[in-house]
Amino acid sequence: MATSKSPFDINILVEHLRDAASQADARAQIKSILSETVTDPSWVAASIPVYEDDDVVLFEDDTVSIWHCRFKVGQNVPAHDHQMVATIAVYQGAEQNSMWVHNKQGSIEKKTEISVEPGNVLQFGPTAIHSVGCQSDVDSCAIHVYLGKLTTVERSLFDTQNNEVMPFDDENYDRLVSIQAQID
Ligand SMILES: [Fe+2]
Repeated sequence: MATSKSPFDINILVEHLRDAASQADARAQIKSILSETVTDPSWVAASIPVYEDDDVVLFEDDTVSIWHCRFKVGQNVPAHDHQMVATIAVYQGAEQNSMWVHNKQGSIEKKTEISVEPGNVLQFGPTAIHSVGCQSDVDSCAIHVYLGKLTTVERSLFDTQNNEVMPFDDENYDRLVSIQAQID
């Protein structure tokens, strides 16, 4: 007789991710846990709370930041870095991740575009630069895990049109979003 699977529990996932973050092979363990979690995206979607805010910090300490991130249809987030390993696991909609690199001319250029769809996990290193957009006709929803304290780390935003680097703060973020909206 087949055993039925317990409903997805976000609190249990957060516990597992916290444990993994303290291990020597945290990066691999986080990826493995998230991959297993979103293998059945509908299992996650059926039981995860409907969060009021688009960005929700589920847990944060010095070792790990665990976020639920929802990007609205048509939303775009300007290019930025994290200064720590980031892992993204999508269970609804699709996140378009554009990966940027520094070139020899001293500016940044788009290297690849990766569509992260339900069931997919994308992991990248501390110096990676990405911009993100909702690529689907429904809001995209994902668990994002960062190996460090994301809310206090000093990191950068990139104006890819004007080739400018600036501190990641609310003022710069809002300005870049409005520049992007004018282009779109
Ligand atoms: Fe990001």
